[in-house]
Amino acid sequence: MIRLAVSLLLLVAPAWAQAPRSGLDYQGEDIRRLQADDFANPAMLWVERGAAAWKRKLGAADKSCADCHGDAEKSMRGLAARLPAWDARLGRVSTLESRINACIVREQRAPEPPPEAADAIGLQAYIALQSRGMPLRVEVDGAARAMFERGRALYGTRIGQMNLACAHCHDQHAGKTLLVEQLSQGQPTAWPAYRMEWQAAGTLERRLRACFLGVRAEMPAYRSDELTALQLYLAWRAKGLALEAPGVRR
Ligand code: HEC
Ligand code: HEC
Repeated sequence: MIRLAVSLLLLVAPAWAQAPRSGLDYQGEDIRRLQADDFANPAMLWVERGAAAWKRKLGAADKSCADCHGDAEKSMRGLAARLPAWDARLGRVSTLESRINACIVREQRAPEPPPEAADAIGLQAYIALQSRGMPLRVEVDGAARAMFERGRALYGTRIGQMNLACAHCHDQHAGKTLLVEQLSQGQPTAWPAYRMEWQAAGTLERRLRACFLGVRAEMPAYRSDELTALQLYLAWRAKGLALEAPGVRR
């Protein structure tokens, strides 16, 4: 069944450049309705968690995020639309998650949360919400360039037993149905998002790992350079699309 779907995939249609479109356009009416209504959107439960975590004193420093950053609606406004980006403090390209974690470890002096911890997803969703509706505009020149090129190369590299690149599914076949799902352009704008299949909210890293698993490739570790590079490339590729986190997906 899977092999049939993949061979069909490789037969049809050449690549064509498409205008960027949100993955929401490829979801069913039920999902679109959930995302449109903050009271129905299950991801908003994680946002509430994040808002509470923002105010909670933590670690040996006994400080909350709010103690240093004040009102997130002001201090974090627009930030998520510019990330990932080169981070002078960390000396590398970093995602929103790694910036938050740097503060938890260095500023609060608390242990780094494990990947996909509920409060960590909540903080990312809460901070991303402060940029909702803003167009993505990441900087890929200068110090970020090498990571960007790495992400671009990865995006076009065949991986896994199915021997498919991200581009095969998300550039050449967006809009086509693969097994039960409609393929979108693989845009990052909804994340962190609530995914029905998980019955939970998760990060873009978790979503990307699911794509690796889907083509029977070894999954890159959470917070690895591969995932950072891919996220930078995806954000650049989505330039101009509005951030819609926290989204809802099948
Ligand atoms: C065999 C096809 C396939 C390949 C190859 C693949 N994906 Fe996906 N991907 C999917 C499917 C199916 C979904 C869920 C439906 C959708 O949104 O496209 C998905 C979802 C996504 C999403 C979430 C889109 C949204 O709006 O929520 C992103 C981002 C993504 N993929 C990126 C990638 C990247 C990066 C790669 C390469 C490492 C990759 N995918 C490889 C099939 C694939
Ligand atoms: C003791 C003070 C302190 C605490 C507590 C603290 N931070 Fe920070 N945070 C900083 C400093 C200093 C920076 C670096 C500022 C800069 O680079 O402009 C920073 C940077 C950040 C950034 C990156 C901002 C940017 O423009 O790139 C984020 C996101 C962030 N903090 C989130 C948090 C969150 C979430 C918490 C709570 C879990 C938190 N911080 C706790 C001091 C703190």
